[in-house]
Amino acid sequence: MANPSPSSPANEYVDLFLFACIEEVLVGDLFVAKISSGFSSDSCTNELKYVSLSDNVLHTWTGPITNVKKLTVVDLSTNFCSNISKKFFSPDFVSLKYLLLQNNLLGLVLPTDVQGEIFQNLYNVVYINLSKNKITNIPNLLFKKQYNLKRLDLSENMIWDINYKLSHMKNLMFLNLRNNRISMLGEYAMTELDSIAKMKKNLTIDLGGNNLVCNCESLSFVKWIVNTPTNLHRREEYECKTSQNTIILFRNPKELYETILKECMSYEGIIIGITTGILIFAFILCGGISYRYRWKLRYLYYMVNIKLHQSEYKSANTDERLYMYDAFVSYANEDQAFVHNTLLRELERYGGIQLCLHKRNFLPGNDIATNITSAIHNSRKTTVIMSSNYLASYWCMFEYNMARMESIYESNCENILFLVFYDQISACNLPLQIIELVHCQSYIEYPNDEYGDVVFWEQLKRAIKSY
Ligand SMILES: *[C@@H]1O[C@H](CO)[C@@H](O)[C@H](O)[C@H]1NC(C)=O
Ligand SMILES: *[C@@H]1O[C@H](CO)[C@@H](O)[C@H](O)[C@H]1NC(C)=O
Ligand SMILES: *[C@@H]1O[C@H](CO)[C@@H](O)[C@H](O)[C@H]1NC(C)=O
Repeated sequence: MANPSPSSPANEYVDLFLFACIEEVLVGDLFVAKISSGFSSDSCTNELKYVSLSDNVLHTWTGPITNVKKLTVVDLSTNFCSNISKKFFSPDFVSLKYLLLQNNLLGLVLPTDVQGEIFQNLYNVVYINLSKNKITNIPNLLFKKQYNLKRLDLSENMIWDINYKLSHMKNLMFLNLRNNRISMLGEYAMTELDSIAKMKKNLTIDLGGNNLVCNCESLSFVKWIVNTPTNLHRREEYECKTSQNTIILFRNPKELYETILKECMSYEGIIIGITTGILIFAFILCGGISYRYRWKLRYLYYMVNIKLHQSEYKSANTDERLYMYDAFVSYANEDQAFVHNTLLRELERYGGIQLCLHKRNFLPGNDIATNITSAIHNSRKTTVIMSSNYLASYWCMFEYNMARMESIYESNCENILFLVFYDQISACNLPLQIIELVHCQSYIEYPNDEYGDVVFWEQLKRAIKSY
C-alpha cells in the first residue's frame, strides 16, 4: 500500500511500516480503525516530520509508535478515539511539538490516567489541541511533563474546574477553556494560574461560554478576576449569573465584586447575628436551668460518685433499705457543744439512737462533699440543728440542700429531714427553702428549760425513730 488512494476507503488496517523512510504521511479520509505498531523500520531511521491521520475512524490507539524521532506534528483529529494506550506515545516522540487531538472521544480515557502516563514522553510539545473531546475531568498529573507547553486548547468540553497541575508550564501563553461547564475556579486553579502569570505576564485564558456564577460562594473567584495578572480573553463578554438569576457581563469586574461583597456582608451579618442570638439564648437557658436545678445536679453528681465507689447499703428488697445510722446530725461548728454533749447524751446514750456526726463519723481523706452526701444517704433521717450560725455556714447549707434532695429523690418522698430550732431566728432571716419545710411542720424548737426539755427529747426521739 505504498500509494494510499482515496478511492479505496475500505482499508481497515493500513500497514504503516511502509512509510518508514518518507517525510510526510497524509492519510486523510481513509477508513483506518486501529493503529497498532508504528512507523518503525530496522534498516533506516525515520525522517518523518508531519503525520496527519485526521478524519478516520481510529478508535483505538495502541502503539507503541516508534522510530519517529524527527516527528514534530501529529494530527489525529476527528477520529472517534476513545481508547489510547499509555504506551502509544513512545519515548521516540522527542521532537513532537504539535499534537492535534481535537474532535475525538478522549474524555472517556483521559480521566483514568491518574499517573499522567499517556503524555509522559512528550517533553517538547508546545501545542496540544484537545478541543471537542467530551472531557469532564482532567487528572492532576495528566500534563506533568509538558514543561514547554505554550498553547493548550480544552475548549468545547464539559470541564467544570481546573484540578490539574499547570504551574510547571513556565511558557504557557494560552489556555482555552471556552464553552465548558465552569461556574467558578477553585482555589487551586487560581493559585496555579497566578503562579505562571506572575512570572511571565503573558498568560491568557479564555473562560467565555461557561456558566459562571457571581454570588457569595464565588466571591473569591470574582475577586480573583479583579486582581489576577492573568489576561482574560474578551472578559467583557463573559456572562455571569447572579443570586437573583439575572445575567450580568464582566464589563466592570471591580464594581461587580463590590456589589456582591456588600450583598454577602449583609447576608453574613444576618447569619452571624442570628447565630449569636441563638447561642446567647441557649447559654442563658442552660445557665437558668442549671441554676434552677443546681442542688439536684450536685446531688446527682455526688450520688453517682458514691454509688461508684461504695458498695450499696441496700437489701434486695428496696423497701427495706439498711442504714448505717439512724440520724445524721447537721450542725454548725459553733453549736457543737450542744450537739456533742447534750444531744449525744440524750439520743445516743439514753435513747439508743445511732447518730452520725461529721466530727466523729466522717472518713478522713474523703472529700467533704462526698462525705456529706454519703452520710445523708446512709442515715435514715437527717436532723438539722438550725441556728443563725447554721444559716451562715456554707457547708451547713450544703448539707441541708443535699438532705432536701435526698428526701425528694431517694426516699420516695417520705420526710427524712427534721429541723430543730436551737436559736430564735426570725422568719424573715430564713431562706425560702427552709421556710418551705417549716410550713410542712417538720420542726421543733429547743425550749432550753428543764420541763420543756423532757418533752422535747421525747418528741425528737419519736421523730427520728418513726418510719
Ligand atoms: C483499549 O484497547 C486495548 C487494546 O486493544 C484493550 O485491551 C482495552 O480493553 C481497551 N480498553 C477499553 C476501555 O476499551
Ligand atoms: C483546536 O481545534 C478546534 C477544533 O478544530 C479549533 O476550532 C481551534 O481553533 C483549535 N485550537 C487552536 C488553538 O488552534
Ligand atoms: C504575549 O503574547 C502575545 C501573543 O499572545 C505575543 O504577541 C506577545 O509578544 C507576547 N508578549 C510578551 C511580552 O511576551
